Amino acid sequence: MFDAADIRGDFPILDSEVNGKPLVYLDSGATAQKPQQVIRCIENLYKRHNANIHRGVHRLSEEATELYEAARNKVQSFIGASAREEIIFTAGATASLNTVAYAWGEKFLHEGDNIIISEMEHHSNIVPWQLIAERKGVEIRVLPFEDDGRLRVECLDELLDKRTRMVAVTQASNTLGTRPDLRKIIDKAHAVGALVTVDGCQGVVHGGVNVAELDCDFYAFSAHKLYGPTGVGVLYGKREILDAMPPFLCGGDMVDRVSFAKTTYAPLPLKFEAGTANYIDAIALGEAIKYLEGLDLKAVEEYESALTRYAEQQLQQIDGLKVYGTTEGKCSIVSFNVEGVHHYDIGMILDKLGVAIRTGQHCAEPVMAHYGVTGMCRASIAMYNTREEIDSLCRGVERAVRMLR
Ligand code: ALA
Repeated sequence: MFDAADIRGDFPILDSEVNGKPLVYLDSGATAQKPQQVIRCIENLYKRHNANIHRGVHRLSEEATELYEAARNKVQSFIGASAREEIIFTAGATASLNTVAYAWGEKFLHEGDNIIISEMEHHSNIVPWQLIAERKGVEIRVLPFEDDGRLRVECLDELLDKRTRMVAVTQASNTLGTRPDLRKIIDKAHAVGALVTVDGCQGVVHGGVNVAELDCDFYAFSAHKLYGPTGVGVLYGKREILDAMPPFLCGGDMVDRVSFAKTTYAPLPLKFEAGTANYIDAIALGEAIKYLEGLDLKAVEEYESALTRYAEQQLQQIDGLKVYGTTEGKCSIVSFNVEGVHHYDIGMILDKLGVAIRTGQHCAEPVMAHYGVTGMCRASIAMYNTREEIDSLCRGVERAVRMLR
């Protein structure tokens, strides 16, 4: 059995006070807190191993390069990619998704094609597609969800056709917690020759992934939601597809030969890593993965699911409270509103009580439009959260509702 008490001590921020109250951090869906192993790793890298990678013959540069490439290997095995060349370090999931939309879309999308995007996507898996679609004369089709948060995968039978080039879908919705049936989506898309881009930001943290088994074509996630640092993320792509794509950002490190007559590009993965990479944080992502691999991740997943069910049950006792997204097997995200009370007001009163949740549109405005609301409260639960913290959340919401109604 996994117990949050065993790991809470690894996260220094968790014993902070906010407004004179113990911090109850329920916003890990926005960014997770960092274990001291990751924090120490960053400090140690700057103190002992800092030099630009892939550029020097001197010892420090070689050390930093080795550590950076070892982090790539860690990511490769953590997400089950077949080859290390398929792991591109980016600035985060948003940068990863933009890379696919621009670099792949520029070459492979043509007027009259269409792209299917699920209605529950984060803006990062919508807007880059809209921009490239506009430039290329490509139609955007929307895969809808039911009110309970279930993605209506069966609608793909009508939406997919021989001009569908891409299906963009989340592994786990950052607002509804839904885990769409990726197996079915990928099989259906591939059957008509379309590719699939999966936003793995929430999914990689809660349950993980094996991209080779899943057979998705692209997969994106950010380090900072996986207990790693901000400013670094990963784009996984199948090697043959990445090879066929033109580069996106251009500059140092991504070239083979440069002359004014002709420039050739570095092989994968460097073709997509222009400029000085954020090697410190990429290495620290490797450290975060090492930390996670020291835990029983199946037990962690069960613990988070049980805590999520408890949170939903407790919150639903509150008069007028509605939870959005109630699908079986959802990830540890609980979005809600309380009738007659504004989500921002709840968030602000909770903050006074030391409880941190996210309020607003969660970068998923189409989800808000689906329910006709201007925003929601969202408690996102991580492995370090406890039942007592969920009780504090519920007491806080009750108190906010009493004050505001
Ligand atoms: N995309 C992040 C969230 O869902 C920031 O909160």
